[in-house]
Amino acid sequence: MELLKAVEERRSIRRFRPDPVEEEKLTTVLEAARRAPSWKNGQCWRFIVVQSEEGRRALAQCLPLTNPGRKALVQAPVNVVLCADPAASEEWEGRAYYLVDAAIAMEHLVLAAAALGLGTCWIGMMYEEEIRRALAIPPAIRVVALTPLGYPAENPRPRPRKGLDEIVFRERWEGL
Ligand SMILES: Cc1cc2nc3c(=O)[nH]c(=O)nc-3n(C[C@H](O)[C@H](O)[C@H](O)COP(=O)(O)O)c2cc1C
Repeated sequence: MELLKAVEERRSIRRFRPDPVEEEKLTTVLEAARRAPSWKNGQCWRFIVVQSEEGRRALAQCLPLTNPGRKALVQAPVNVVLCADPAASEEWEGRAYYLVDAAIAMEHLVLAAAALGLGTCWIGMMYEEEIRRALAIPPAIRVVALTPLGYPAENPRPRPRKGLDEIVFRERWEGL
């Protein structure tokens, strides 16, 4: 699938078919993440791939009950946990770039997945300390997000987006 088509057709998927994700496709989406740009090429991201049902159930428990992505982690045959080592990135004027680096890598993964017909859903509302405990993640490593990965069992309508006229200024900031 063309990149722009993947960008256009990607949706957050929260219902999945049980069909397994081919190892080759899993490698392709992780490769896409690996190729992301990062602050001084620090590549601070780390990914934990969780495929066992026990592991996926444990991850789902680390989300608030109100998180609509909770069930998706159990339904999807693969969960990917995005971690980052802040020491491998830098802060500049108070901005911690590990979050930016990791987010770019994750979005590469998400778009590659869409191009392969796989569904994902960014999940940020989680209890980090619980995930750290469940997956034996060292204290210095941050958990940035996670996503279920698998074949979609739904085809959600596009969520609304602001128009370009609301978000793009020309030459200088304009009052809204
Ligand atoms: C940083 C980030 C965190 C998110 N966290 C969650 C989450 O915890 N649970 C969830 O169900 N969706 C989560 N989402 C998905 C958004 O709700 C979704 O992207 C948004 O509603 C737009 O819908 P779309 O992705 O289908 O275009 C998150 C998205 C982003 C970018």
